[in-house]
Amino acid sequence: MSSEPQSGPTPAPAPGTIPAQPFTEAQREAVYRAIHERRDMRHFSGGEVAPEVLLRLLRAAHHAPSVGFMQPWRFIRVRDAQLRQDIHALVEHERLCTARALGEREEDFMKLKVQGVLDAAEVLVVAMPPGREAHVFGRRTLPEMDVASAACAIQNLWLAARAEGLGLGWVSIFDPEALAALLHMPVGSRPLAVLCLGPVSAFYAEPMLQQEKWASRAPLQDMLYDDFWGQAGAGAQPQA
Ligand SMILES: Cc1cc2nc3c(=O)[nH]c(=O)nc-3n(C[C@H](O)[C@H](O)[C@H](O)COP(=O)(O)O)c2cc1C
Repeated sequence: MSSEPQSGPTPAPAPGTIPAQPFTEAQREAVYRAIHERRDMRHFSGGEVAPEVLLRLLRAAHHAPSVGFMQPWRFIRVRDAQLRQDIHALVEHERLCTARALGEREEDFMKLKVQGVLDAAEVLVVAMPPGREAHVFGRRTLPEMDVASAACAIQNLWLAARAEGLGLGWVSIFDPEALAALLHMPVGSRPLAVLCLGPVSAFYAEPMLQQEKWASRAPLQDMLYDDFWGQAGAGAQPQA
């Protein structure tokens, strides 16, 4: 193959394709900024989410990858004030059970703010529909790929929310069966997340659990192996 630079007009992309050009530097920076500045938010400043913004976020979620393209996500927007109170009560109940299950860390856990269900402008429940067993592609040996797919949708929504200047908190402290009953969900469906979404006065500069000294980010180097489990990479010296 010749290494000479090609001259003349850029060939038209093949039908059904988009040229494989990288984003501009500013666009790349924006993508990485959203990734690094996304935070799990539990403090909200009231206000509201404009309908067109909410739609953009939901569209971002709906464009997530999914195993066998099964799209195992449904979004229930909680509009009823009493329903929101009931969800808050479920979360509070499970918070106490979690604290008890933590044993010696019970007291530290109880000091953490782990949800903003009553404070956020919007509450969205992400749930998986019934009938997921019909989707075998990619799930025969790994049935939990439905959960992984729905999590991709939530992550898209989370990053897009950061780009819109909105905070999002993922709450998983609830009894799924109780929440399913509350939301009149059909047999075989499964709620995965209560998302608290809305304006915030500021984003935490680092994970709140790190600020509160509950946990800290592990060095990336500790997560990287070469060839075999546990065999530390010889070459790469990445910063976390
Ligand atoms: C699957 C999942 C479930 C989570 N559930 C909760 C939760 O119930 N309550 C909470 O306060 N944070 C929850 N979080 C947020 C994590 O605590 C948070 O992502 C982590 O501390 C790192 O902080 P960061 O998201 O700001 O980077 C959840 C996150 C994920 C990915």
